[in-house]
Amino acid sequence: MDELFSRRTRAVKRSEIRELLKLAERPEVISFAGGFPDPATFPHRELAAVAQKVLGEDYDRSLQYGATEGDRLFREAVCEWLGRQGLALSREEVTVTSGSQQAIDLICKVFLDPGDVVFCDLPTYLAAIQSFTAFEVEKVGIPQREDGMDLEILEEKIEEVSRQGKRAKLIYLVPDFHNPTGITMSLVKRRRVLKIAERHNLVIIEDNPYGQVRFEGEPLPMLKSLDRTGRVVLLLTFSKILCPGLRLAVIVASPRITEQIVKLKQPADLCSSSFTQRLAYEFMTRYDFAAHIDEIRALYREKRDTMLEALEAYMPKHPGIHWTKPQGGLFVWLTLPEFVDTREMFPRAVERNVAYVVGSAFFVDGSGQNTMRLAFCEPTPELIREGIRRLAEVIEAELSVASAAVASK
Ligand SMILES: Cc1ncc(COP(=O)(O)O)c(C=O)c1O
Repeated sequence: MDELFSRRTRAVKRSEIRELLKLAERPEVISFAGGFPDPATFPHRELAAVAQKVLGEDYDRSLQYGATEGDRLFREAVCEWLGRQGLALSREEVTVTSGSQQAIDLICKVFLDPGDVVFCDLPTYLAAIQSFTAFEVEKVGIPQREDGMDLEILEEKIEEVSRQGKRAKLIYLVPDFHNPTGITMSLVKRRRVLKIAERHNLVIIEDNPYGQVRFEGEPLPMLKSLDRTGRVVLLLTFSKILCPGLRLAVIVASPRITEQIVKLKQPADLCSSSFTQRLAYEFMTRYDFAAHIDEIRALYREKRDTMLEALEAYMPKHPGIHWTKPQGGLFVWLTLPEFVDTREMFPRAVERNVAYVVGSAFFVDGSGQNTMRLAFCEPTPELIREGIRRLAEVIEAELSVASAAVASK
């Protein structure tokens, strides 16, 4: 029956990384692989209290179908919350989705035809790559520097694509505490990438799950708040600042784009869950949301500090080994010498009861074989320290094998 599957279905391969990670499911493995938030950040008691009210007094609305664009009260609460952060919005610019993953899928549906070109960082968020693949587009990876995407190369690539007669449509960015690298795009680059998008008539997807989770330094303006031409589509999820199980995110876009998104969301799911939107609305209006986010920041800050200290203490001193020092988010990105292949090394790490995500999974051009993503969100600080110690031993062994091989040549 396989011949009945669509071209799109056949284009998306089973994730080899998922298969690899199954090896790491034993409880004794300290895993830096999953990007799942720490359940200690979930406000479960408060949610239980608001659920009581929502199911008692508001059951007729909260258990009913809702508007495709989302619950009016929840959207207004989101506008007010973003307004306090300097992003003035009206409800008409906000669509609620079932997580920002659905938002990425809907935006692809709205903008992309097979063969169109999407620009993204090298490396970039894995499930966004999978969405782009499902829409049968060409993914052009642009190297990422310490301050974000290399915009010289972006412009060269845009011009190259246009000379080839292809249709460039989107630039996909995670400007704050990037997944997987933890890197933040500088203000200069934020302004410049907007200019580039204007000059070449491209839409920017600003995927921002981690911007609220800043540990230090001043927040940088979101691309959306610098956008004067309505070409930035901002995705904000509640997964990391409330909990992923509610499956709630919003798309902030111009009314014209929002209209198209709503048109295509209707056949996708009719509406997102009325119940979880109500829970989130009650939580945001009854409790101190800002204080809740402050607690999340403090918890992850300690874990980030522990991971950076452990890397400094345990990693072999080698000019080819370095890592990012994120000011927020959930991830550190580790680069090893070119001769180390983190995919080949993975079973040896799991044998030592430590796991990571193989970096090449995040590269649309298949490069990055000497890199890995380390998520510090799940393990406790003690386990982070021990996990990095084990990982450093595994890497040390790789270096010794490699230098012995060179010496014997
Ligand atoms: C960059 C990025 N975009 C989107 C998502 C998906 O989030 P959600 O739970 O809102 O679907 C994630 C989740 O980790 C992410 O890191």
